[in-house]
Amino acid sequence: MNMVVMLSPGFPREMAYFTRALASVGATVVGIGDQPPHDLLDAARGALAHYEHVPLADENAVLAALHGLARHMAFDRVECLWEPYMLLAARVRESFGLPGMTVAQTVPFRDKERMKQVLDAAGIRTPHHTSATTVAQVWEAAERIGYPIIVKPVSGAGSADTYRVDSAEQLADVLPTLRHVPEVSVEEFVDGEELTFDTVCADGEILFENVMWYRPRPLQNRLHEWISPVSIVLRDLSVPDLQAGREMGVRVLDALGFRTGFTHMEWYRTASGEAVFGEIAARPPGARVVDLMNYACDGDLYVAWAEAVLHGRLGAPLEKRYNAGSIFKRAHGLGVITGVAGLDALRSAYGDDVVLVDLLAVGEPRRDWRASVVGDGWVVVRHHELARVVEMTERFAAELHLYAE
Ligand SMILES: Nc1ncnc2c1ncn2[C@@H]1O[C@H](COP(=O)(O)OP(=O)(O)OP(=O)(O)O)[C@@H](O)[C@H]1O
Ligand SMILES: [Mg+2]
Repeated sequence: MNMVVMLSPGFPREMAYFTRALASVGATVVGIGDQPPHDLLDAARGALAHYEHVPLADENAVLAALHGLARHMAFDRVECLWEPYMLLAARVRESFGLPGMTVAQTVPFRDKERMKQVLDAAGIRTPHHTSATTVAQVWEAAERIGYPIIVKPVSGAGSADTYRVDSAEQLADVLPTLRHVPEVSVEEFVDGEELTFDTVCADGEILFENVMWYRPRPLQNRLHEWISPVSIVLRDLSVPDLQAGREMGVRVLDALGFRTGFTHMEWYRTASGEAVFGEIAARPPGARVVDLMNYACDGDLYVAWAEAVLHGRLGAPLEKRYNAGSIFKRAHGLGVITGVAGLDALRSAYGDDVVLVDLLAVGEPRRDWRASVVGDGWVVVRHHELARVVEMTERFAAELHLYAE
């Protein structure tokens, strides 16, 4: 009953921890992925009963490899937590007649227009939206929705090719830069705070729930290099400000028929307190958020996911003990890291509330801040009181500096 095929068991990096978790709760895990076997992290390699090195972009090769293996072993489940291959996982399930998400159930999690159509039909408040495949359709949508608008790819990630447009003049400037995007969503721009609603579910039941607060909004982080992006996993989900979003989250999962696994939803909270849907994925959040949840709970969400998938329940309840905040740093200057300033003072001010400092070392080359969410390093702080975490994240954002030249 416990033979699990894991697509891309070692990439991106946190997949290795999910793979290891599956094995740790009793699964026999067969991996299939793009990475040469020697590139797999030890966490993944040590957990795999077998690994097939096959390009995941080649669906026929994946199916052929798995049907070959199926002559010797019977698969019970297929898992994939990496966005680009969620549909492939669904096709493999259908090809083997396995339980889990079908292609039809997966599409609304991948296509932002289909997603919002399903949710509109369920009466959920999405931003006013249309999809467009031509320049004329974008103009028409902008006219109808009214400025400011957001224009973004229907299957985007990491805020890539995403623009806020305030006027027709700006739209004329932005359209040429979107030429390589085959289909865009044009949306009403929603003003407000941006938060997540994340879950681990089994058989349609929410076993773990998480709400995280982005500071500032992700699109700002993508536009301005000087910002240190902050995310705070919130301890107390019972506060009034979060209820509209949590209720929306439950209805969204229901409308999409989600049953088992990790989900990651983003929503906006307007000044009037209204919750507006942002987007949802049938996978864990990226950007080290699973680790941040672990710091907030003193628990292991990698294992919790594996238990949900394999056994339909958690081995032990997960409770948030802390608000946990992460701060991603971007160095000043280009080239290699030459120095760090401000760390000692912040460490002595906050002591044990600073639980992780993982910065590039002097001499290491800077990372591309648009391509890497972690940037040139990250810090995690935590405390029972939210105000204290807000203060710590603001000070680490403003007073910790990395320099490069
Ligand atoms: N309708 C909207 N109103 C206001 N801001 C928006 C809207 N749509 C997108 N944004 C901004 O752009 C960001 C990226 O958009 P979205 O989350 O849809 O795409 P993404 O690229 O999949 O994001 P992710 O970074 O989560 O992968 C959002 O986090 C938000 O800051
Ligand atoms: Mg997003």
